[in-house]
Amino acid sequence: MTNSPKGIIDFHSHILPGVDDGADKLETSLKMLEISKSQGVETIVSTSHYYNFRESIESFVSRRDDAVYKLGKAINEHDLDLPEIVVGAEVRLFPGLSNEENLSMLCIEGTKNILIEMPYSTWSPWMYNEIYAIITRGYTPIMAHIERYLGPVSEKEILEKLLSMDVFVQCNAESFSSWKTRRFIKKLIKHGKLTVIGSDSHNLESRISHIDDAANYILKKYGEEFLNVIMKNAAYLIRE
Ligand SMILES: [Fe+2]
Repeated sequence: MTNSPKGIIDFHSHILPGVDDGADKLETSLKMLEISKSQGVETIVSTSHYYNFRESIESFVSRRDDAVYKLGKAINEHDLDLPEIVVGAEVRLFPGLSNEENLSMLCIEGTKNILIEMPYSTWSPWMYNEIYAIITRGYTPIMAHIERYLGPVSEKEILEKLLSMDVFVQCNAESFSSWKTRRFIKKLIKHGKLTVIGSDSHNLESRISHIDDAANYILKKYGEEFLNVIMKNAAYLIRE
């Protein structure tokens, strides 16, 4: 591990115990948060998966909030110095999402900003229509780990769509270390379309946080000012 920049906002994580395929238990959540802290993370956005084919929004939010309470209680009881947790969700796009009465319950708490996961297939018109409709309702979509759709969707199409839609873009930390995805991220940066970064950490093994490596990469390649812009974007999207 290299010297980590401080004040990182990790915009994408699965740290809550037992809510999705992320942390399996409380101890794992606490260890994941310790790792984040050691990597310079000040604030972590908890974005548990929401899939409409599994459960209602109300049921998801209730399960998620129980886990938030459990984790918060453990942190307070042991007076642990860990990153601040901001609660949100990673919402898989589905036809009709934009019409959901309780759409606001899936946003980052206290905001109208929503982290959207696209289906892992070729992109179809209904998907763009949903995103446009979400924007029309006054919400701000943040497209989760956009570089992960390379393959089913071409670089050209992703770039074109991102540039034509009023959306923000999140990239995963680990994608900064692979040649192909890094090349794409550089293009996003060139077009001013990289908004925030996230670890998308799920556990302590195969999907552990590498947010410090991504932050260091940005720092070295683009400088402190640009890293600050990314963190300011994140700070804005969790507060407004
Ligand atoms: Fe995720």
